[in-house]
Amino acid sequence: MKNISEEKGFKKIYEGKAKILYFYGNDESRLVTYFKDDATAFNGQKKGTIMKKGEFNNAISSSLFKLLKSKGIDSHFIENLSEREMLVHHLKMFPVEFVVRNFTAGSLAKKMGVEEGVKLLSPVVELYFKSDELGDPMINETYVKAFDLGETKDVEEAKKIALNINEILKDFFDKNGLLLVDYKLEFGILNGKVLLADEITPDTMRLWDKITLEKVDKDRFRRDLGGVEEAYKRVYDITSNI
Ligand SMILES: Nc1ncnc2c1ncn2[C@@H]1O[C@H](COP(=O)(O)OP(=O)(O)OP(=O)(O)O)[C@@H](O)[C@H]1O
Ligand SMILES: [Mg+2]
Repeated sequence: MKNISEEKGFKKIYEGKAKILYFYGNDESRLVTYFKDDATAFNGQKKGTIMKKGEFNNAISSSLFKLLKSKGIDSHFIENLSEREMLVHHLKMFPVEFVVRNFTAGSLAKKMGVEEGVKLLSPVVELYFKSDELGDPMINETYVKAFDLGETKDVEEAKKIALNINEILKDFFDKNGLLLVDYKLEFGILNGKVLLADEITPDTMRLWDKITLEKVDKDRFRRDLGGVEEAYKRVYDITSNI
């Protein structure tokens, strides 16, 4: 498995569930994110691997960052270094996940006592505090200042960007036969500017076939539905035309 960062002896600074982060040589203002095949679900309780997921996700995320850039939304993305490695700007991350939803699914369906797949009258945005120990609890904007998680204005800006992204991605996937049910974004700061970071992949989105409502994302792994690699490949094929 080709890993330029390991070959060049780049310093590993973090290994997460889906990616490894390295400094870009001596340049600590940039990072290499290496996409792994490892898959986890239910806060790490379920573990497995999805063949070629790292390659698919690196390509999918890069293409979507490029699409967003062409519509005026900047991200940490600089360029691809290899099939599994992406060069990005090193940001000061908000310890917050932004989830945007267009249809009910997962925890929202459960919480509101409705079935999955109900179209929401307007998008829902949820904030979660990134903490594996606490199981990523849901928070809201008032927690941001109270617990020093970032500047309130920056988090508001991130939320606004997350909703702009929704219009672009919803439209893109719709044109390619998929419903964008929900997704998770992460943001950070570079030179005072809020930038989209991390990844946008079938690990972090729910996508359903428009006609059959078949799942085309990590839920196939979470729920043991089979056809996991094929689902990632389908999203890869769609985004490779960007
Ligand atoms: N441009 C960036 N600068 C700094 N950190 C980043 C950047 N983009 C993503 N990250 C961070 O890199 C890590 C990516 O690793 P991965 O997705 O494997 O993490 P994870 O296992 O989901 O765990 P967690 O997100 O809880 O740390 C995340 O912590 C993410 O917040
Ligand atoms: Mg992650």
